[in-house]
Amino acid sequence: MPDGYQPATRPHAEAQRLLAAEAFGGDPATALDHVDDDYVQRTRVVVRADRVAAALHFLDVGQFFHGRRLRCWAIAGLVTATAHRGAGVGRELVLGMLHEARDAGVPLSVLYASTPTFYRKCGFEPAGDVCAWGVDSHRLPNLPGALDGFDVVSFEPDDEPARACYTAFAQTQNGTLDRDAKLWRYKLEPRRGHRFRYRFDHHGKTEGYLSISGDRSDGLAVEDYAATTLRARLAILRFLHNHRAVNGKVVWYGGPHDPLLRLIPENAAFVRPHTEEWLLRITDVAAALRQRGYPALDAELHLDVRDASMPANAGRRLLRVKAGEPTVEPGGDGRVTLDVRGLAALFTGQRTAEELALVGLAEGDAADLAAATLVFHGPRPFMVDKF
Ligand SMILES: CC(C)(COP(=O)(O)OP(=O)(O)OC[C@H]1O[C@@H](n2cnc3c(N)ncnc32)[C@H](O)[C@@H]1OP(=O)(O)O)[C@@H](O)C(=O)NCCC(=O)NCCS
Repeated sequence: MPDGYQPATRPHAEAQRLLAAEAFGGDPATALDHVDDDYVQRTRVVVRADRVAAALHFLDVGQFFHGRRLRCWAIAGLVTATAHRGAGVGRELVLGMLHEARDAGVPLSVLYASTPTFYRKCGFEPAGDVCAWGVDSHRLPNLPGALDGFDVVSFEPDDEPARACYTAFAQTQNGTLDRDAKLWRYKLEPRRGHRFRYRFDHHGKTEGYLSISGDRSDGLAVEDYAATTLRARLAILRFLHNHRAVNGKVVWYGGPHDPLLRLIPENAAFVRPHTEEWLLRITDVAAALRQRGYPALDAELHLDVRDASMPANAGRRLLRVKAGEPTVEPGGDGRVTLDVRGLAALFTGQRTAEELALVGLAEGDAADLAAATLVFHGPRPFMVDKF
């Protein structure tokens, strides 16, 4: 077996699971349960002298930006074997995967970082949030009548109307994931634990759903929810209110602008630990700019991108947006200079170009920075999935 970056064999994937169990905590006896053909296919390793020196697993998902879906490899369980740390194999692994993603036509990669510095050196930048919210149940609004007109029905994990409801909401947001089977399973039917799943149908049309954890150690845990109408959000709040007799708290995941926050009186919701930022890496700048959606405006951005670790991304690009439809060409005047990390945070809308300029991740005159901010403006980026 040659040294270097490569797709995993089954023994490699098993080694990755065990290294991850050692690094992150976990039971080695059950760690190997996850290794099926699909898992092996999406595991990558760096080999040194016939041994796995570093390994990662990724999910092949989509990420929504202004209504369009971009393919995205979501990295999970990246680990360098302890004896090999500090020798560059982690970096070799990440860059190997990023180049493979680019070659496969995947313009984005996303992850949660234990060590942001390591990933920033590979071109990732914090670019969105997952917010863990909580509220004391007695602070939930009463909302009599909010469930009128709704049929609240249990649903199966593969339920199409519930999944369509999630997608309809996620598409209106930035950064939300188009889930793969594994992420759906975790939200609706995990290997361990139970979920109580309810759909909120209004005259036969699904307008919301809830997936509630059976484990109540943390209060009533809403593992997943989506709603496409205001009345469905109010119905969901009323349903949660009805749980208050035996649950002191309700906890859930959402964005910084989660709609339930403003529907709960007196700003009573609080932020819990587990709130964190995710990091994005643009693996193909031209494709990413071409594939995302934009506000229905006309604009011209002359970008000059710096990318030390993926030089194919570097250089000038002219992004023209006409009534929201983009074209991207090489060249232009390079009026806004951006490190690829700065571009990641601008692309999602997590940071404005003016904010990036303050920390040296963007440079340009005031008018060009303002135009860049406007083009990428939208709902604040978030996702509710952890991996
Ligand atoms: C984080 C981890 C993957 C880094 O792997 P590694 O093979 O030791 O990293 P490398 O030697 O390739 O380091 C690449 C660069 O990142 C830096 N770096 C590595 N680990 C770092 C850390 N914990 N904090 C800050 N910088 C770090 C290195 O100094 C190096 O910088 P340089 O290029 O300027 O010299 C490894 O420490 C690990 O497996 N930790 C436990 C599991 C974990 O946290 N995984 C990440 C999950 S999100």
